[in-house]
Amino acid sequence: MRRLILLLPLLLFINCKQQPASPTGLVTEKAMVVSAREEASRIGVEIMQKGGNVFDAMVATELALAVAYPFAGNLGGGGFMVYRKNNGEVGGIDYREKAPLAAHKDMYLDSLGNVIPNMSTSGATSAGVPGTVAGVMAVHKKFGSLPLSEIMEPIIALAKRGVVVTEKQADRLESYRDRFIEANGDSTKFAGPFKAGDTIKYPELAQTLQIIMEQGHDGFYKGEVAQKLAAFVQEKDGFITEEDLARYQAKWRDPIEFDYKDLHVISMSPPSSGGVTINQIFKMMEPYNISKLGHNSTKSIQLFTEASRRAYADRNYFLGDPDFVDIPYDMLLNDGYLQDRMANFSFDKATLSSDVSHGEVEIIESDETTHYSIVDSEGNAISATTTLNGGYGSKLYCDELGFFLNNEMDDFSSKPGVPNMFGLVGAEANSIAPEKRMLSSMTPTIVEKDGKLYMVVGTPGGSTIITAVAQTILNVYEFNLSMQEAVNAPRFHHQWLPDMVIFEPEGFPEELIAELEAKGYIINKERTPIIGKVDAIRVLPNGKLEGGADKRGDDTAVGF
Ligand code: DON
Repeated sequence: MRRLILLLPLLLFINCKQQPASPTGLVTEKAMVVSAREEASRIGVEIMQKGGNVFDAMVATELALAVAYPFAGNLGGGGFMVYRKNNGEVGGIDYREKAPLAAHKDMYLDSLGNVIPNMSTSGATSAGVPGTVAGVMAVHKKFGSLPLSEIMEPIIALAKRGVVVTEKQADRLESYRDRFIEANGDSTKFAGPFKAGDTIKYPELAQTLQIIMEQGHDGFYKGEVAQKLAAFVQEKDGFITEEDLARYQAKWRDPIEFDYKDLHVISMSPPSSGGVTINQIFKMMEPYNISKLGHNSTKSIQLFTEASRRAYADRNYFLGDPDFVDIPYDMLLNDGYLQDRMANFSFDKATLSSDVSHGEVEIIESDETTHYSIVDSEGNAISATTTLNGGYGSKLYCDELGFFLNNEMDDFSSKPGVPNMFGLVGAEANSIAPEKRMLSSMTPTIVEKDGKLYMVVGTPGGSTIITAVAQTILNVYEFNLSMQEAVNAPRFHHQWLPDMVIFEPEGFPEELIAELEAKGYIINKERTPIIGKVDAIRVLPNGKLEGGADKRGDDTAVGF
């Protein structure tokens, strides 16, 4: 009895650690959508209330974001989706943009071999062949349970009725206004000005969606829409032709899967770097008792940073479109190789990126992509990230068809060693070639625990996507935060080059930064940006769902 009393604190401690955190986000019984706009989450949920499955809801949410969140939701961009059915079957679809047929390795270089400023980031020259419509149509064809008309009618109605501008959106529209006018002239819809509370109607987009609803994939990639789109891009000196559009197909791809302690992680495979890089980061950290190091403590930041440093160095060198380059998965994902990579890590002192490799680059982060997570009442889950790349993509808006075009070509490496807009330095594996897909960092992820669905997670944030997703998973699993707390928690990021760590503006005390500096970490104090905007769902032990809708945006969880 005395022994039991003595052991009681220990038993309580162990028991506490095993009790998952109480939810603080929206909790629902059966089904949930978490996305960047309430309108889109609600449309996705209503599709499931009508009896649609997670895939019907994915089609609805993706297209609703194209209407309600033109900053990143799109018809003129692309994305990735990973799914896990309730029977454990997993898969993924790649609807990433492709380089046009006219593209070539040096297309963004001048006669002296220098990168031409803005050519891969703004206007028609920066646009890859869009993949979104092909993606959602392929998902609907393979897994959809409701007729396309039932899914798309509410979205067309939303486009006609219009969407109310939020405070955050009004600020964004204002800050981009000059660039919209520069790209499109001052009679373009987005010349505005707009203020919070205004309603923006999208009749042209409604018309384009109507054609897609009637004709499916071909409604976008052939016929009237394709003709208008190709003519518009070419008139603006871009490269996309009707042939490019006619040849575009989304591709089903096996996700990257790996175990981390008693979790099983399912994430997107190349041409997204997300799955491989998050796999490397987790496996390099696995031997450590991370929960004991403490959430956002000096030591846990060191460990995460050093794993990221090594993983991003590999990412930038080895990864590209798997249809064009051989990726050495056996080596990159081998446990022994990853332990070796960490052999020179010490808690005493930072590793220098120049000892891992070389380069001098500037990093720019933002949250201009968008992610949504969905679970249906049968326990099927999808995780999807979709983007125009930059905010409003190339800024080129096709007024006639009602959507922005991406500037995804900048995700290629225009010239080896020259950083792109996320400061990522690419290599030959990600050089430009006709019909090749540019390397992405998008990391739509699903996590299982004990063989059951545990979490659906993803975020925008360019090169910071991978680390933001990894930190969110660790926040729940290692540091016992609720889903909503995990999503809101302050984040940091390191990506090998530039050799610096960035921190969000709040949540990292000066003493902690000073301690890291003393150990040799280079901290970028000028830039303390928002890192990611995570939308996630956790399955609670009682089977209910907890939403994590990032407080950094207008993101909203809706469910039933
Ligand atoms: O695919 C990628 O990695 C990028 N085009 C994602 C862009 C993004 O997240 C924009 N927001 N920062």
